[in-house]
Order: sequence, then structure tokens, then C-alpha cells
Amino acid sequence: MSIKNKSYGHFDDANYEYVITSPFTPTPWINYLGNDGFHGLISNTAGGYCFYRDPKFRRLTRYRYNNVPVDTGGRYYYLKTDDDMWSASGRPVETELDSFECRHGMGYSRFLSRKGGISSELTCFVPLGETAEVHKLTVTNEGTSSKELSLFSYLEWCLWNAEDDGANFQRNLSTGEVEVEGSTLFHKTEYRERRNHYSFFHVNQSITGYDTDRESFLGPYRGVHKPLAVTNGQSTNSVAHGWSPIASHHINMKLAPGETRELMFVLGYVEVAPAEKWESKGIINKQPAQALIAKFDTTEKVNSALDELHTYWHTLLNKCHVSTPDDRFNRALNIWNQYQNMVTFNLSRSASFYESGIGRGMGFRDSNQDTIGFAHMVPEKVRERILDLSATQKADGSAYHQYQPLTKKGNSAIGGNFNDDPMWMVFSTCNYIKETGDFSILDEQVPFDNDDTTKAPHFEHLKRAFDHVINNLGPHKLPLIGRADWNDCLNLNCFSTDPNESFQTTQRGKSDIAESLMIAGQFVAYGQEFIALCKQLNKDELAADCQLHVDAMIQAVNEHGWDGDWFLRAYNALGDKVGSHENEEGKIFIESQGFCVMAGIGLDDGKAAKALRSVEKHLATEHGVMLQQPAYSEYDKYLGEISSYPPGYKENAGIFCHNNPWIVIAEAMLGNGDKSYDYFTRITPSFLQDIQDLRKSEPYVYSQMVAGRDAATPGQAKNSWLTGTAAWCYYAASHYILGIQPDYDGLSLSPCLPKSWPEVKIHREYRGAQYDITLSNPKGLSTGIYKLTVDGEVQIGNTINFERFNASHKVELTLEKA
Ligand code: BGC
Ligand code: NOJ
Repeated sequence: MSIKNKSYGHFDDANYEYVITSPFTPTPWINYLGNDGFHGLISNTAGGYCFYRDPKFRRLTRYRYNNVPVDTGGRYYYLKTDDDMWSASGRPVETELDSFECRHGMGYSRFLSRKGGISSELTCFVPLGETAEVHKLTVTNEGTSSKELSLFSYLEWCLWNAEDDGANFQRNLSTGEVEVEGSTLFHKTEYRERRNHYSFFHVNQSITGYDTDRESFLGPYRGVHKPLAVTNGQSTNSVAHGWSPIASHHINMKLAPGETRELMFVLGYVEVAPAEKWESKGIINKQPAQALIAKFDTTEKVNSALDELHTYWHTLLNKCHVSTPDDRFNRALNIWNQYQNMVTFNLSRSASFYESGIGRGMGFRDSNQDTIGFAHMVPEKVRERILDLSATQKADGSAYHQYQPLTKKGNSAIGGNFNDDPMWMVFSTCNYIKETGDFSILDEQVPFDNDDTTKAPHFEHLKRAFDHVINNLGPHKLPLIGRADWNDCLNLNCFSTDPNESFQTTQRGKSDIAESLMIAGQFVAYGQEFIALCKQLNKDELAADCQLHVDAMIQAVNEHGWDGDWFLRAYNALGDKVGSHENEEGKIFIESQGFCVMAGIGLDDGKAAKALRSVEKHLATEHGVMLQQPAYSEYDKYLGEISSYPPGYKENAGIFCHNNPWIVIAEAMLGNGDKSYDYFTRITPSFLQDIQDLRKSEPYVYSQMVAGRDAATPGQAKNSWLTGTAAWCYYAASHYILGIQPDYDGLSLSPCLPKSWPEVKIHREYRGAQYDITLSNPKGLSTGIYKLTVDGEVQIGNTINFERFNASHKVELTLEKA
């Protein structure tokens, strides 16, 4: 069979679901539960873990990253009859099911199994605003005779600090503590000392038995695929003291033909005020847990929480709903891309199947960029996030590269000096204000480096971001790169020859020579945004002053940043060119082409068009646009981590999807609608259903990286879910292909469509107004001269003025002439 045709699932658009039909997908295909602090990762066989706010410091359940078999650890439900045992989610028990389906939906995952006449349906979700996963399990006897069976739940507790949990065994094999009361299994490790929180696993009916000690449940040297207690059909009522605490309920049931049993499990986290921690000596105060359990102890309560979740998502996704002639595009924009935007916004790059949840907090550049796909969805959260980021900025305008979600403090282990960081906050803030009209964010008093004695209005933080670039220019008057710019692996001041050193945090170079054309383009793009913002605020003098700096930067790019057919990428610490035809490898890079064109540099003199033709010629492949070419074949200490990767992977000539939408936008800015759309379709999962087996990662969300032409398997995707690709692709498609551009005065329309689209309909909510927009393209154009009407009234310009039109309106834009 051709590997190009193997499919493991399909979309179910009516239900906003992706239906996975095999437990054995090429990699675990995961989903996320929870929007508001309590989060779970859940694979297509219920593997994964959950945590409260911080996947490093508040992890509830254990997951074994990069283990064999892959995807070990999860919420497992075992079913056992006299003849057979199996898993309600298809794994880890190896028994093949008669039928299996995993339906990943918006904030929930549902597993359907059938074996020997018994069917089960397991739905896992985090109810809105709650600190718990709820698992609704129904078991039905589909046969004609009555059946006896045993059900076992299972999860393993993580001892809160996930890093310590996986490393410090001399301590943590002695600290585990549990309590059992009725059908609730409590996990209270370290509660006796400095923790004011515990977790629990509950089921809403009486149980036959339980286990809380892993070894007792699994049996010596056995795995989760074949626990001894399940094989024996009997749990051991073990109480864990140290070692590895788990939670497992055992319930015997007898089902008449056609009978269904419904069980509601709650896996919860609660915090207790220090003075109220204990019920009596050594016995924890269970009231907060009981209160949480009481919310989900009947089928009706759980069903209504699920309904609320559905309504929440449907309302949210309906804020921008598009209908174009291409269902694959609609599906991406209306469902999965927006959903992924929420997830990346919530988690930055912290916890996924590829991000272990212990390594990285919230990234400064990542989180700012994530807001551009999310500002129209939940603007209040974007406001809060921008202000949190602003508080980690330092007084000189630079920024901590990351912050920890629990403390919201800048992470000093990583530090700063990634010189693209500051300007992303200008972008996120302007985008937020254009979406919401909320200029008040600029007046918020925000500290520098979380030091409350240094508060200044958020606007001042933006100004310092701008100044940071102009205060850090190199010999060509281009921005100094610092440790790295957007490309974390272009470490021009690192010079590392020691394999034990981190590329990200080592800096040897004098740092006042190496310059970045990516930051130059970014500065021009977002410097212009800043100037436009100043003008909105009537700060004309400041605007004029900033304009001088932006003009100077454009001049520096034209003089020192143009290589003849494309924009250079950088100057290294020796002052040599990077990304030039003069180089043997790494002659052309995507980032500077994308950013300089997005900044508008070279639109007037042909450089932009030329740069994009070079991208097409040297970097474009059927699977997307590669980061650079030719790939580096040798490690070069003057380049850093980029040259450490094997050719074709990651930043060394992989297809780094995050910057593909920059080219989509750049082509749209040049009016090339077909080209722009073509690039968009090459990396967007809904267009790639027939190469699932090649791609390997989830076919409903973007992956960070697709292997490039030089790799062994071009087209193979890795690092799914947590990637700036999500927000940027949504932004490119909505702002540039469909051309829906929020602006200070209202929503502007500048579509650049594929020529073959005669009509597009868009429902867009904007600052509380509702616009039903029709884009008509009777002449088969991409862009050009148009006619815009609002409620039949012809408009001058392309903006739906918000002051005049702030209720429900019918908007029509007709492309009339190229
Ligand atoms: C990766 C980058 C990543 C960086 C920071 C590098 O190894 O290649 O994509 O941003 O680490 O964690
Ligand atoms: C992943 C990081 O999260 C992001 O910040 C960076 O821009 C890209 N890698 C490229 O290196």
C-alpha cells in the first residue's frame, strides 16, 4: 500500500470534531482539556496528564515522556469479563477491540469502544471554570444475555513538582501519601508540610475495592497494559506509603441485556486555607473536595456541564465564521485553527507531547504573537496577558525571554537579550487596540521587571521597546541580534565548542557587531505601527521623531541589507554576511524576506517582488517553504545551534511553519492571491488529509516543523500544537486572504482572494457589532478596485466606520477591476 494514502481518521464538521479510527496513529494524536488554569493533555487513547496552571510545579498525574511503549500514563479504564479484558480507550491493554473511535472535540475527548457485546463511551472534559477533569463513563450490554464485569479506573499521581518527580527518587520514593474515604481516593503528598493543596479521584457510586499503591495494583514487573489486579478481577485495597501512589477504583457490575450503567468520575484539585488544612491530626480537610464533587455527582449535572462547554465553544467560534468555496479553508478557519489559537495562547510552548512541561514557561515573543490569533476571541484575556508580559520587561526596554505562569516573574535562568523580543509587544498591543478600541490599556501602570517601585504606563513600555532597538544598533546601523532573534538557533555571539553548553544562554561575543535583518524588518513593520498609534494619541512630535528612526532603518536595509536578489539575513560577529549568495551554505533565509516585505520595504522599487521570486525559486517545496538553503552540512561556531541540526530539520532548512504565513502575507501584499493561497494550503492540515501517514502528527492542527528537502523524510511533521504557526496562519488567512483588518476607526476590508472564488460570506463580530459581509468577485480577480456598501450605502475607502455602524449590518464588497 502506498504510504501516501493511509488514513487514520476524518473531520466531523457538524460536531466540530476530528474522528480518529485507530488507537495506533503514527504518533499519539492529542487534544487539550480546559481553558482557565486547569489543563489536561489527552491522546487518542486517553494518555497524557493534567495540571493546575503550571505543568512543572502543579502537575497532578504522571506521564512518561519519550517512554516505550510511547504514550504511557493516562486516565485508564479497564473492563474485565471472565473471558477478556480491554481498555475503554483502546490502550494500554493490547486486546484488539471490535470497534474503536476517539472523537477529539472542542475541550473534550470521547472514546467509543465495543468488545464482545459490551460497548463503552468515555467522555473526558474540564468543566468551564473548574479545577477538575470529569470523566463520564457509560457501559452498555449490547448482548442478549446478562453479563458480569469488573471495571477498574487507574491513574498515577505525580508528586506535584514534575521535574523532581522524574529525578529525585532518593526523596520522592519516601514522600507519597494518600487517604481513602468511601469512593474518593485522595492524594496528599507534601500536604503535611508546605503545600496547601491536594488532589483526589472520585466516582459517584459505591466501590467494590480500590488500590492506591502502584506495585500492588500492577504486580511486580508488570506494566499498565496488564495489571495484576485487573487480571485477577480483584483490587487489593492497598494504601500507599511512599513508593508510587496511584488511584484505582474497582466496581463490579452485572448488566442485563440492553442495560447501561453510567459512572461519573472526578479528578480534582483543591486549595485549602492554611488555617483550615486539617480535619483532625493527620486527616485532611475534605470539604473543598466534597464541594467540587457535589457539582458533578449525577449524570444530569455532568451533562449540563458538557452542554455549557459546547455552547461556550460554539459562541466563541461564531465570532468569526467564514464561508468560502473551499471547505478545507472553512474548516481550518472556523474550527481547528481558532481552537489551536486558544491552546497556544493558554500554554505558550510549555506542555505538549513534545514540550515536557518542565523546560519552558511562557515565552515573551511567543505569547505576544499568540495574541494575534486570539484577540477577537477573548480580548479580556489578551489584555491581561499583554500586561503580564509588560511587567517582565526591563527598564532598558529589553525583556525576559520567558516567565513562569505561577509567579508571573521573568525567568532569570534564561534571561534576556533576544533582541526581537521587545517589538513583539508593540505588535500585540496595537493589534489588541484595533480589535477592541480599548486605548485604556496604554494607561495601565505596569512595573518593570515586576518591581512595583518602577511603575510606568504601558505606553511607556512600548516606547522603551522601540528605543531598545535604536539604542542597540550595529556597525551598519542595523539592529544588533543579541543572543538570537526570532530564530532562536541563529546564535551569532555564542561561539560554543562545548557540548555541555546551552546555545540559548551562552554568550561570548562582544555582541556589538552581529546584526539582524529580521529585526530590521520587524522594527520597520512595528515601528510604523507605533507611529500610527502615536498619531491616534495626538503625539505628533513623538510620531515624527520615530519616523526618522524608521526611515533611517529602511535606508540601512537598502544600503546594507540587500544581496542583489533577496534580503540578507544577518552579519555575524566577524562582520561577515549570513544569507548571501557569497555564502556557500545558508545563502538565502525566509525570515528577512518575510519581514522586510511585510514592512513594505522594496514594494516601490521591485526588491520585494524580487525577494519573493527568490523564495519561490530557492525555498519553496510542495510541503511548504524551507527556512533557508542550502542547509548547513557542518557545525559552525559562528552560527550556533542552527548548524547543529542535521540538514532538513528544525531551523537548519526545515520547513519552519511559523514563518510560512509571513510569505502568505507578503504575496498578498503584492496582490498575488493565487500564490498566497497556494502557500497557505501547503502547510494547513485540513488540506493534507491524504498524506497523514507521511506527516505522522495530528492532521487537525499545525505542527511547528515539517522536514525539509534535505531530510530523510521530507514532509514529515513534528512538534504539533504549540507553535506560533497557529496564530500567524489564522492572521494571514483572515487579515490578508479574506482581508478582514481591524483598524482604529473600524473594520477595514482588503481581500486578496484566489481568483477562482466568486463569492465569500463572513460573519464577524467586532466590538459588539455584528457584520454580515459578502465579498463578491464576479470577474475572477484577487484584489483591485472595489465598491463597498454598508446597509446599501456606498462607502468611501475600505473601512466600516465603527462610530456609524456599531449594530447589525450588511456589508458588501465587490471587486470590480484589477
Ligand atoms: C529549538 C528552537 C527553540 C529553542 C528554545 C531549540 O533547540 O530548535 O526551535 O525555540 O530550542 O527552546
Ligand atoms: C520555537 C520558539 O518557541 C520560538 O520562539 C522561535 O521563534 C522558533 N522556535 C524559531 O527558532
